[in-house]
Amino acid sequence: MPNEENVGKAKEGASGGPDDTTKLVRRRKFAWTMVFSFLSANLLMTLRFFFPRTLFEPKTVFRIGYPGDFAYGVDTRFQQDYRIWVVRNTEGIFVLYARCTHLGCTPDWVEGENKFKCPCHGSGYDSEGINFEGPAPRPLDRAGVDLDAEGQIVVNVGKLYQCPPGLQCQFKDPGAFLAGV
Ligand code: FES
Repeated sequence: MPNEENVGKAKEGASGGPDDTTKLVRRRKFAWTMVFSFLSANLLMTLRFFFPRTLFEPKTVFRIGYPGDFAYGVDTRFQQDYRIWVVRNTEGIFVLYARCTHLGCTPDWVEGENKFKCPCHGSGYDSEGINFEGPAPRPLDRAGVDLDAEGQIVVNVGKLYQCPPGLQCQFKDPGAFLAGV
């Protein structure tokens, strides 16, 4: 005759004991975690597809205001946004492109010394961008300038004017300078 203890053990053996139940729950949890992780990763990859990494380049043609907004000397207001300096001299206005002609670093305008100084290899340019010290091979390039229908200055850094030694200087070309403004 089977006693009660044996019957209990037999039942546990047939349906799985408390240990087996715990293992089963753990396995299910693990399986669900894996499924959830897999689905999350796929969801992220799908979202990534719809929002690709893009590079937003600054505009190459932009307006900077009216000629009357610029006083005599160097105006550094647009250096951060457009990498330019606006210069007014006795003849008019032109725009320097803030890229060292040696290897392309961005020089600093040193107000106290009235010059642009490149932090990379020490090139120096006067207040009109003419190189006078260091390894820079030519003056700072000048960006295209024009006036729009409203009389605002339009700068085009996609069109640069250069003045390499021994070659034709483009600084007096139409579009490189706003005379008499
Ligand atoms: S990059 Fe300006 S001096 Fe070399």
